[in-house]
Amino acid sequence: MIKILPSVLQAEDIEKFLTLLKEQKIMDIDEIHLDIMDGVFVENTCEHLNEIITVKKYGFKVDVHLMVAEPQKHIIKAVDLGADSVTIHEEIKDLKSILELLKRIKKEKDINIGVSIKPQTDVSVLVPYINDIDIVLLMSVEPGKGGQSFIKNTYSKIAELREMSPKLIIVIDGGVNESNVRKAYELGADKAVVGNYLTKDIKSLESNLKNLKL
Ligand code: DX5
Ligand code: ZN
Repeated sequence: MIKILPSVLQAEDIEKFLTLLKEQKIMDIDEIHLDIMDGVFVENTCEHLNEIITVKKYGFKVDVHLMVAEPQKHIIKAVDLGADSVTIHEEIKDLKSILELLKRIKKEKDINIGVSIKPQTDVSVLVPYINDIDIVLLMSVEPGKGGQSFIKNTYSKIAELREMSPKLIIVIDGGVNESNVRKAYELGADKAVVGNYLTKDIKSLESNLKNLKL
């Protein structure tokens, strides 16, 4: 079964959304995806790490996706606030040293560490890091905003990555809905981040979750 990670990026009222997620009985959801953007690595800015506290208050784990050029500025705060996983981008400068920082933190704290790649980045760039990380987050849209369409080259990337490593947690992020989630799962994705599809009309949350259930 693929695990659904709701993204709160476009939730109008995050507490209301989390309450509804808690109440629904369609599937087990125990983890929320939180996007952080710096206006440099991506155009938009959204540096609300404090939302980790809000999400934890509802009993969910928090998966932090740092779409930022300098993740070292955010990592310690994210972990101190209770992030359960932290993912940085392969396309930043200093990837190696920041991964070292994450590895040091992982020795002391129970967190998963991940690397994300943009749609045009080849999975082969991950080869040097594959044994050091828990998660690969495959962006299935250009990072930076919700509500975009799923890019189909993600399918072959999932398959290639699964071939490279049986144990990595493969996550897809962007444009996920009922038309692509099954194929992603069948090719080897473990988790799917879902934003707009769940947050655009929270009155339909249960039926949309049903559509995502495989
Ligand atoms: C996009 C973010 C995603 C976003 C997904 O840059 O990384 O996590 O919230 O939203 P949807 O599902 O609307 O593409
Ligand atoms: Zn994300």
